[in-house]
Amino acid sequence: MGFLDRLFGKQTKEEETMTTEKLNIGIILGSTREGRVSPQVGEWVKGIADKRGDANYEIVDIADFQLPFLGTTDGTEPGIAAWNEKLANLDGFVFIVQEYNHSITGALKNAIDFAREAWYDKAAGIVSYGSTGGARAAEHLRGILAEQKVADVRTHPTLSLFTDFVDGSEFKPQDLHLNNVNTMLDEVLAWSGALKTIR
Ligand SMILES: Cc1cc2nc3c(=O)[nH]c(=O)nc-3n(C[C@H](O)[C@H](O)[C@H](O)COP(=O)(O)O)c2cc1C
Repeated sequence: MGFLDRLFGKQTKEEETMTTEKLNIGIILGSTREGRVSPQVGEWVKGIADKRGDANYEIVDIADFQLPFLGTTDGTEPGIAAWNEKLANLDGFVFIVQEYNHSITGALKNAIDFAREAWYDKAAGIVSYGSTGGARAAEHLRGILAEQKVADVRTHPTLSLFTDFVDGSEFKPQDLHLNNVNTMLDEVLAWSGALKTIR
C-alpha cells in the first residue's frame, strides 16, 4: 500500500479484516451442578444477543469440558486442551455467574485457573444471580479477571432469586433487565474490538 493510500485512510487487508469480521463472544455458564439454572439464564442472554446480529455469540458450558480439579492429574485430559482452544478462539466473554457462599462456584474458578494466555487482553461482561443479585460473587470475579488480564465492563445485570425466578428454579426475568443486558453487550463488544488490536 502506497504512502497516499495510508495518508487518506485506506485500510490494509489486515485492518479491513479486523473491522469487518464479527467478534466471537462466549457466554460462559459458571455452574455445573445437577439441576442448575444457568442454562436458562445463558439462553436468555444469547436470545437477546442474537437479535442484535452484531457478533457471533455462543454458549460455552464448562460442564462439557469435564475438567479435572487443577493439580490432581497429569494435565493430559483432552478437555483441558479443548477448553484452552475454545477460549483462544473467543474475543470476549459474558459470564453467567451464580452466587455460592458469597463467591463464584468452585467449577468456574477451576476453569478460569486452567487457562492463562487464552484469557489475556479480552473483555468480559457479567450477568449474575442470587439472593442479592449475585453481587458478591460478581465482585469476586472482577478481582480474579484482573489477574487474567480480562477487562470487565461496568454494566452488570443482576437477577434476583426472589423476583426473576419462580421457586428459585424457573427463570422468569423482569423486563427491566433487557436494557441492562444490551448496554452490557455494547460495552463488551466495544472493548473486545479494541483489545483485539493489541493481541
Ligand atoms: C453451595 C451453594 C451455596 C450457595 N450460597 C449462596 C450465597 O451465598 N448467596 C446467595 O445469594 N445464594 C446462594 N446459593 C443459592 C444459589 O445462588 C442458587 O441456588 C442458584 O440457583 C445457583 O445457581 P445454579 O442453579 O446455576 O447452580 C447457594 C447455592 C449453593 C448450591
